[in-house]
Amino acid sequence: MLNGKKIILAVSGSIAAYKSALIIRLLIKAGASVKVIMTEASEDFITPLTLATLSKNPVLKDFTKDDDSGEWNNHVDLGLWADAIIVAPATANTIAKMVSGHADSLLLAVYLSARCPVFVAPAMDLDMYQA
Ligand SMILES: Cc1cc2nc3c(=O)[nH]c(=O)nc-3n(C[C@H](O)[C@H](O)[C@H](O)COP(=O)(O)O)c2cc1C
Repeated sequence: MLNGKKIILAVSGSIAAYKSALIIRLLIKAGASVKVIMTEASEDFITPLTLATLSKNPVLKDFTKDDDSGEWNNHVDLGLWADAIIVAPATANTIAKMVSGHADSLLLAVYLSARCPVFVAPAMDLDMYQA
């Protein structure tokens, strides 16, 4: 079912971010192409190097590249590239911003641009979740 599919795994800043490595392994094993987008906060929990290595693609984090080249990550193209987006883990912060249409990270701008199914895996302490 996933063979040949183009998947964006969007990782936000939850302790559960360590599980994104396993998700990528399973997607790749199933034959999917995987691009990973990380929020700044997620880098406190797992490194881009790990996720880039497993996904076989550079991890995307910012709207623009870090150098002075003027190159940028086209969020609209990324949103349209994907057959599905998986937001896992999805923090309370990221979910709230998705709902309200914020676009202050690459992850959120890609989400807003997407026309594919988006799967959201909330990950937070139960007391936070039930608030
Ligand atoms: C150790 C630690 C664990 C955290 N775990 C979670 C979590 O599981 N879920 C959550 O919603 N926020 C969690 N947070 C808070 C988020 O990292 C914080 O709200 C951050 O701004 C989220 O940014 P992002 O949504 O752009 O990734 C945690 C923070 C720390 C320091």
